[in-house]
Amino acid sequence: MFATVAAVPDSADDPGRLSRDATIEATQRPGAQPHAILVVDDEPAICESLELTLGDDYRVFTAATGEEGLAILEREPIALIISDQELPTMKGVEFLERAIEIAPRAIRMMLTGYADIATLARAVNEGRIYRYIAKPWEPHEVRLNVKRALESYELAGENAQLASALAQANDRLRAENLYLRREVEGRYAFDKIIGTSPAMDRVFEVMEKVADTDATVLITGETGTGKDLVARAIHYSGARKDRRFVAQNCAALPDTLLESELFGHMRGAFTGAHQDKKGLFELAHRGTVFLDEVGETHPGMQVRLLRVLQDGEIRPLGSSDTRTVDVRIIAATHRDLRRDAEEKRFREDLYYRLRVVEIALPPLRERREDIPLLAHNFLDAASRKMGRTLRGFTNAAMDRLVAHEWAGNIRELENEIERTVALAGDADVVGEEMLSEHVRGAVAVADPRVEPLPAGMTLAGAVDALKRQMILEAIDETGSKTRAAERLGIPRQSLQKMMKRLGMGPEPHEG
Ligand SMILES: Nc1ncnc2c1ncn2[C@@H]1O[C@H](COP(=O)(O)OP(=O)(O)OP(=O)(O)O)[C@@H](O)[C@H]1O
Ligand SMILES: [Mg+2]
Repeated sequence: MFATVAAVPDSADDPGRLSRDATIEATQRPGAQPHAILVVDDEPAICESLELTLGDDYRVFTAATGEEGLAILEREPIALIISDQELPTMKGVEFLERAIEIAPRAIRMMLTGYADIATLARAVNEGRIYRYIAKPWEPHEVRLNVKRALESYELAGENAQLASALAQANDRLRAENLYLRREVEGRYAFDKIIGTSPAMDRVFEVMEKVADTDATVLITGETGTGKDLVARAIHYSGARKDRRFVAQNCAALPDTLLESELFGHMRGAFTGAHQDKKGLFELAHRGTVFLDEVGETHPGMQVRLLRVLQDGEIRPLGSSDTRTVDVRIIAATHRDLRRDAEEKRFREDLYYRLRVVEIALPPLRERREDIPLLAHNFLDAASRKMGRTLRGFTNAAMDRLVAHEWAGNIRELENEIERTVALAGDADVVGEEMLSEHVRGAVAVADPRVEPLPAGMTLAGAVDALKRQMILEAIDETGSKTRAAERLGIPRQSLQKMMKRLGMGPEPHEG
């Protein structure tokens, strides 16, 4: 604690002072040496008398001239200076001025005859001396004054330390803030979004264009395609990045609660509303509100959202006043909102207001070329997190990852890799057998050539279609019915019968 005195502003410009000031601090602590007092007077009787008055409680140094006094100041850690006004060579005032340079924190007092009190009072007012002692003095009065002066000396010292500690704490906080902000920005910066496929290139292109604008953005895509990530990246790389990004999942709350979350409420607006509450739109003023799952909002909410988008106006629940807010809106949905709008499940005008710019995130199975890069990234991250040293994947394992359907998209891939790393033991590459069963076994189903089933198909019809598809592919890949039957795990005769029943002609090349 006492070491921090080195940063005290008073003495910071004079490094030679620092160690000495530190010693002064040390002597103040309970049980340490008493304070040192310097008395400067050319009359030995005065020096003696003050020494007598103060010597029991303090270390008293005496000097007959200003020069002598300055020499002592250079040597000793003086806390209080008592100087006569009329000194032989250097005047008392001049001596004190020079004393300030040597011991800036020492308290200064002046001894004076009644005649000079007016000038001294001015010096006191100007803060150059702490107080004056009029001759002749009452010893107990001097003792009291000295005691108070030294208390304020100690307080000043403490203040300086606290100020310095505070300044250091502030610096630390500032640094920490900066770090946290960078962290947050970094976390959501574009470069955390992985993808080099043409589909992702198009996404990046649009993101870059809209980030610096206030345009409302609608992000669409299946679950786990990165809608959240993209929304944050847009906010944190745009002009509003120093303001808040608040996200609200519109599917997560019942109607009234959602309304109150977004728009706020007045006390008594509904049961349980015990006090006024600000909504997210107000909290995010000049920032961004991310409306996740906006497709799940009820019609009343849709009207209110339209109002914010059109006029920037909100009205807290239970209030008759509207308020204006300045927020950028980014919305996301996994639904086909255009169809919902066409089929009147979603307000068409709101749909158009939301999709000023639309960013459609492709499902992972439509950009399989990104899978190896993503997989390696997740592997590195998970290995680091769990203290493993997995270097990569075997070809067979990577083939499986690339072929898998990934209905849960990137989130599913990320989870799969994390799970693999957690269970990897001391393996140093991920082998096929380490992947979870449904990823390992799903090659045929995962084939992108599998067409979506026509609507209205019966279960039996769908099963037949799948059988047909799998048989064709197995024969395609193995080049013979025998090996195809093996691949499909059925006897060759069963395959033949099945093909007949399914109306599949004799295949061209039998092996
Ligand atoms: N392109 C990407 N590069 C790296 N990580 C990604 C990418 N896209 C998504 N992720 C990661 O995948 C996970 C799911 O992403 P996110 O939460 O953004 O998806 P979402 O579309 O919002 O899903 P949901 O519809 O379920 O809310 C997150 O951990 C995210 O960091
Ligand atoms: Mg999400």
